Amino acid sequence: MKVELAKTAGFCFGVKRAVDMVYEEASIHKDVYTLGPIIHNDEVVADLEKKGVTTIRAMEELNDITEGTIIIRSHGVTKDVYDTIDKKGFKLLNATCPFVTKIHKVVKEQSDLGRTIIIVGNDKHPEVEGIKGWCGGNAIVIENAEEAHNLCLNLEKKVCIVSQTTFNYKKFEDLVEIISEKGYDILVLNTICNATEVRQNEARELAKRSDAMVVIGGKQSSNTQKLFEICKSECEDTYYIQTLSDLDLNQFKSFRSVGITAGASTPNNIIKEVHTRMSEMSFEQLLEESLVTIHNG
Ligand code: F3S
Repeated sequence: MKVELAKTAGFCFGVKRAVDMVYEEASIHKDVYTLGPIIHNDEVVADLEKKGVTTIRAMEELNDITEGTIIIRSHGVTKDVYDTIDKKGFKLLNATCPFVTKIHKVVKEQSDLGRTIIIVGNDKHPEVEGIKGWCGGNAIVIENAEEAHNLCLNLEKKVCIVSQTTFNYKKFEDLVEIISEKGYDILVLNTICNATEVRQNEARELAKRSDAMVVIGGKQSSNTQKLFEICKSECEDTYYIQTLSDLDLNQFKSFRSVGITAGASTPNNIIKEVHTRMSEMSFEQLLEESLVTIHNG
């Protein structure tokens, strides 16, 4: 069995930067808090907890804290959240991915210029919630073709379309086309992160040439879920696991090639464990086959 690990598996630049910032802060200071889990990965969050980092799940919890560092995760937050942290006098560590910060800047500028902001993405995703908070109350979120068709604005309205960084590029193009047909003055800014696109393309190609695929990532991670969907559409035998313990190696005995990829929030040590175990299994298979050959010979 050939085992191939995707080059782009694992932390993207923004997530790595955010996680490193939390570990560094926790190594120097006490009372370190992250606004929401720093990444969608239970193992990393649990490890950070052991190092004294507390996850804040709701803004009201800030009322119970008197001092410390509040870390904003890579998804970013609304402008109001910055203001609240500032008012309360906490130390603020901003781990918002620079690509997301760029979207905040653009939507603020464009909404100040009077454009209605259309965010193509999932309304419930924290990144989209954060972006909305920079649009001066002038944002509409669209996720699918039906919502794009139903969009009904005054024709005088000027519109600026941006995207959630992890949105599917093809779907974004389709939705932009539907909105473009409505005749508004439109400014389109493709804010899909290149890291996502490159990872998705590599996963698709790997799934095409593999008998089975393993996708590693937290169940809550939307980019891992998308990777799984892409791989599954190319390779029926695609398995979604969080850690090595979810992997049933017996399922892979009949495959000649297995590809491995992982979402942007999957730590390197988990990917390495899975890759190592599968490579060991492949070696054991080879050994068994050669022993059978020698025996028969
Ligand atoms: Fe940033 Fe792209 Fe990752 S937007 S958090 S580098 S997926």
